[in-house]
Amino acid sequence: MHDVIILGIDIGGSGIKGAPVDTHAGRLTTPRYRLTTPPPARPGDVARVANSVAEAFDWRGPIGFTMPGRVKSGIMQTAANIDDGWIGVDARQLFSNATGCPTTVLNDADAAGVAEMAFGAGCGAQGVVLMLTFGTGIGSGLFVDGRLVPNTELGHVRLHGDRAEAYAAASARKRNNLSWETWAGRVQEYLDHVEFLFAPDRIIIGGGVSRPKKVSKYLHLLRTRADLVPAQLQNEAGIIGAACAARTLRPA
Ligand code: BGC
Repeated sequence: MHDVIILGIDIGGSGIKGAPVDTHAGRLTTPRYRLTTPPPARPGDVARVANSVAEAFDWRGPIGFTMPGRVKSGIMQTAANIDDGWIGVDARQLFSNATGCPTTVLNDADAAGVAEMAFGAGCGAQGVVLMLTFGTGIGSGLFVDGRLVPNTELGHVRLHGDRAEAYAAASARKRNNLSWETWAGRVQEYLDHVEFLFAPDRIIIGGGVSRPKKVSKYLHLLRTRADLVPAQLQNEAGIIGAACAARTLRPA
């Protein structure tokens, strides 16, 4: 059973969300459980809350985690929208110690992309597919013929002398009280830039702005050469992708 049903836990700046996932069907098997991320989101505190999420499901098997930063072999190399204390931390070891379970850790946008490629807006897509998540930051997941190129961090390309995510993330719209039209203009500038750099065949727009009610406010304003589509799994994509990434782990 553990080969199919795996716990996914998505660590974000405001919430830590988890649920067991049927990794063959790409669906949560029970509603997700969410706890608030402890401010400041220091490693030990986050690991304790993540363990509470695992305990809520009485979990004993493999767990896939997402983190909002670059993750190499389980080690955090960046921490743009989370406490700096994460840099250099072996997150995989930390989460394994906290939960007593085998774990894997990947970037949150990579995880969302893995889920969309398998079960959502990228299903079966060949060529270059770029998943972009718009939230507090901008996350990116790049796929070439279905294979992930991990840790691309395209929210950090330069736009107007700063990180693009400071200018065009969903948080920039709220922070600067921008209309949807003005925000869409910023997103258009960003998309023009990444299209020039990567020439994707498809771009998937994910994050909170991929909910159908939000999509209708801005998607029609955007023009790309690539096929531009909203994500389908919305706020469950990270959990599903994390669980899928942990599929090869064995129960401890
Ligand atoms: C981080 C990325 C992350 C994205 C979305 C960015 O600030 O650098 O690693 O994927 O935010 O959370």
